[in-house]
Amino acid sequence: MGTEWFDLTGRVALVTGSSQGLGFTLARGLAEAGATVVLNGRDAERLAGAVERLRDAGLDARGYVFDVTRREDVAAAIARIEREAGPIDVLVNNAGIQRRAPLEQVEGAVWREVLDTNLTAPFLVGQHVARGMIARRAGKIINICSLMSEVGRPTIAPYTAAKGGLKMLTKAMATEWARHNIQVNGIGPGYFKTEMNRALFEDEQFDAWIRERTPARRWGAPEELIGPAVFLASDASSFVSGQIIYVDGGILATL
Ligand SMILES: NC(=O)c1ccc[n+]([C@@H]2O[C@H](COP(=O)([O-])OP(=O)(O)OC[C@H]3O[C@@H](n4cnc5c(N)ncnc54)[C@H](O)[C@@H]3O)[C@@H](O)[C@H]2O)c1
Repeated sequence: MGTEWFDLTGRVALVTGSSQGLGFTLARGLAEAGATVVLNGRDAERLAGAVERLRDAGLDARGYVFDVTRREDVAAAIARIEREAGPIDVLVNNAGIQRRAPLEQVEGAVWREVLDTNLTAPFLVGQHVARGMIARRAGKIINICSLMSEVGRPTIAPYTAAKGGLKMLTKAMATEWARHNIQVNGIGPGYFKTEMNRALFEDEQFDAWIRERTPARRWGAPEELIGPAVFLASDASSFVSGQIIYVDGGILATL
């Protein structure tokens, strides 16, 4: 198998929540593999900055401001992206939020916000993008899951429920859409130093615990997610569907 199996030249890839963090790195990786990448975020200025950074690196990038939790906005944005950038070949459902509180104190509004962003949005965006993919009989969807798709930790119950649901949504999408030649898979990152985890990596005790608890004895580098993402976005994974690839330095493999 030559490297052309991993080549994304001519493909359009939408990565949600990609003006910073893991989404930005994933978008850069897909663009470096040849894709035209469509970045998304809610803050127009931050998004424009991210698009510019990719363009400055000679990559093909565009930005579209919309909130992935708003059904009407999602529908309008997908239609506009497909009109202007071309049909979406690859969707990465990456946008996510974390809200920490003891479970018995979690407010209803917080529960809904976390579920809306981490679980309902991948359904909404996935549904709108998949309609075009079904008509074209080709597509790749990658849902960014988490260790919390498998296990729990104190103070992050809504996130855990949402990411567990996202793993099962991945399987449901794979089950219904594989016959249309759409492969749907997930990537479950372990612990990576991004804004979302600032409270964790700035906490010396937690940092030490992660190093001790992870068989690789370190945090992940965002670039380490690119290989699995390019694989799942490319022809190399044409018969892979419904899987979650955990990129976690072995943490889920051990007690
Ligand atoms: N950092 C980690 O260690 C880690 C581990 C496992 C899973 N993840 C997952 O990876 C994904 C990216 O996380 P990150 O660490 O880069 O966090 P981050 O906070 O740096 O980035 C998340 C991005 O999503 C955007 N976003 C949030 N809600 C949105 C909405 N409604 N519409 C559009 N954009 C929205 C945010 O503005 C932000 O740019 C998330 O799904 C997260 O759950 C991260």
